[in-house]
Amino acid sequence: MKKRILTGDRPTGPLHLGHYFGALKDRVALQDEYDTFVIIADVQALTDNFNDPKKVRDNVYQVTMDNLAVGIDPEKSTIFIQSMIPQIAELTIFYANLVTIARLQRNPTVKEEIAQKKELFKESVTYGFLGYPISQAADITVFGAHLVPVGEDQLPQIEQTREIVRKFNHIYGAILVEPEPKIGEVPRLKGLDGSAKMSKSLNNTIDLGDEPETISKKVMKAITDPAKVRLNDAGHPEVCCVFYYHKLFSKDVCTGISEECKKGDRGCVQCKKELAKNIIEYLTPIRERRRYYEARPKEVEEILRVGTRRAYEAAAITLQQVKEKMFLDY
Ligand code: TRP
Repeated sequence: MKKRILTGDRPTGPLHLGHYFGALKDRVALQDEYDTFVIIADVQALTDNFNDPKKVRDNVYQVTMDNLAVGIDPEKSTIFIQSMIPQIAELTIFYANLVTIARLQRNPTVKEEIAQKKELFKESVTYGFLGYPISQAADITVFGAHLVPVGEDQLPQIEQTREIVRKFNHIYGAILVEPEPKIGEVPRLKGLDGSAKMSKSLNNTIDLGDEPETISKKVMKAITDPAKVRLNDAGHPEVCCVFYYHKLFSKDVCTGISEECKKGDRGCVQCKKELAKNIIEYLTPIRERRRYYEARPKEVEEILRVGTRRAYEAAAITLQQVKEKMFLDY
């Protein structure tokens, strides 16, 4: 039997290059070697979008199409909707007894997110949001996943999952698998605007389905070396966002680009145009597959239906075992 992967995304908006290099690329590469489950985490998305359920619903399909677009093959992998797996909700309640409030409050990713969501959470964070790492532990363990390919920001959630597994196995009996994280090629992709992170909330993303013109526009706005004002000024590629992206999208020629820039032989406008062209080219097969599915919503729904049925069956097996261990097998 193949080992399992469980990974996925909150359906709150289209996926972007940060997701791709942080996690999606691995997810696709590993789907032959692992029995892969991709969760469309709509329940988790509601923890900070409870006031906009329609947005979450719409993005379930968007994120599913992004996964298919990058090459998740529904013949090999199981894509499913979290809210359709009630076993995850049950398990979350059982796990909640194994996690202290103090432990939840120490999670650095959750802390950062709460700080960003002052608008929503005002004087106090909700129980649901503070506790979402518990439900994420349920997502992972209900499938007995061995490996979780994720972006760097998700490491605290995996660590918390591992703690829950150890505690559960110690108290009730060793039935849960302790998962390992796997961080992608670029753990935290910088934004083209100079931000430390490409992120929807920072409005600095290049989305996987973006049109070529959109990509060009976004790249032309990128921040370059502030010391390089005129075309013939010598630049410092090591501080330039555009060069940082050339290293990903123009691998073969990036040494030459760097030399030219340092000598003052390369203007930023030309440099951005080249980058835009390479990003557009890189994303072409992804964009084309996305357009294929956009034109066939019934096919996307069927993929989710089949995947969700399969995920339900797998989750039911674990939950039965958990209930036996907890004397809940009435
Ligand atoms: N928290 C993840 C994110 O922010 C999404 C997610 C939900 C997830 N459940 C998961 C990731 C389980 C990996 C494993 O995108």
